[in-house]
Formats: sequence, structure tokens, C-alpha cells
Amino acid sequence: RIPVAVLISGRGSNMTALIEACREESFPARIALVLSNEPAAAGLATAASAGLRTASLDHRPFGRDREAHEREIDALLREAGAQAVCLAGYMRRLTPFLVGAWSGRMLNIHPSLLPSFPGLHTHERALAAGVRIHGCTVHLVTEGVDEGPILGQAAVPVLAGDDAATLGARVLAQEHRLYPAVLARHLRPDAEQAGSDGAAALRCF
Ligand code: GAR
Repeated sequence: RIPVAVLISGRGSNMTALIEACREESFPARIALVLSNEPAAAGLATAASAGLRTASLDHRPFGRDREAHEREIDALLREAGAQAVCLAGYMRRLTPFLVGAWSGRMLNIHPSLLPSFPGLHTHERALAAGVRIHGCTVHLVTEGVDEGPILGQAAVPVLAGDDAATLGARVLAQEHRLYPAVLARHLRPDAEQAGSDGAAALRCF
């Protein structure tokens, strides 16, 4: 199975969805490392209690030298044998160094239907724009923030009375289905995706 690293900054619910997918024998990936730039990230404890290798690398001591921070991240990823990287709520902008080092092998999940609403506060902005359909996107990471090639999307309706919390929860539930399904397809594009509801989920997109 292909060793994958997951980068987080916080809660790690998408990471948890990936961990659960990896429990399926037919899933093409295993998680080689969970790494956070936030030493207090709740997701680190979740990953450790699942028996996974974890690491934290606080960005603050590096000050403005983002690349120096990323060089250490890159070393940890390689040391763990990762062949692909999933950003899962990793809230740091990447420099061309890390993007280039993992080109074509680094995925991100974003809580909107890109190219609409890149950046932050996507649910608030979707509500303010009055869209009737919202969702999430898994894409390859390139130098432009939230701009890489789209690998998969899941859509949800915006319902009367929604606020950012209710809409965000509806999107998050789809994120948890989408990310494992898209990762599996990216790693093994020709394989029939057994297990989970990945194949069914992908048909909706
Ligand atoms: C998720 O909604 C993810 O799409 C978003 O942060 C949340 C992390 O939640 N990512 C971004 O906004 C990236 N720009 P999680 O830690 O529970 O997976």
C-alpha cells in the first residue's frame, strides 16, 4: 500500500476520515505520518491514539523563513517514506519549494466548489453571495492558493435558514466521503474502488 502523509493544523476530522478509509484492506494507501505545524492540534492526539506515527513542527521559531520550516517538513516526510501528501486542514500557505518537491503528489481539500470561494470563510461567503449549491473540492496543490487541477468535488444544497455552521456541517460530511474516494482514485486510477462508499460518492460528482 502506498505510504501517505497527512498534514493538519487542528481538529483533523478529514484526517480521521482518511484513517478510517485506510482500515479497509482494499484501500490503496496507508498513513505513514501525521504532521502538524500546531503542536496543540487535537488531530495529533487522535492520530497517536490510532497508533499512527505523528510529528509536530511549530512554524513560529522559523519566523518569516517559511522555506526553512518546509525544508524540515520535507525531511520528515521523506524520512517517513511518504510517497504522497494530503493536506487536511493544513492552514499554512506553501512556498514554491514544498509545492515543487511534491508536485503531482500533494492533494488538498477545500471547503467550497472551486474556483468559487478560494481562501478563508468560504461558508460565510457562499451565503453572502446567495449561491444555491455549495460544496467541497479536492485538488492538486500548485503554487497558486486553491488553484490546482481539480480531482473531485461534492455538492450540497444551500437551504433556507442556513447559517455558516449548518452549511459548514453539511459540507464537512461530504468532505469526509470525498477525500478518501479521490485519494484512492488518484493513487490507483485504474482500480475498481471497493469498500466504503467511494465509488458511489464519485458517481455523484
Ligand atoms: C476543513 O473544512 C477543510 O476543508 C478546511 O479546513 C477544515 C479542516 O477541518 N481547509 C481549508 O480551509 C484549507 N484552506 P478538519 O481539521 O476537521 O479536517
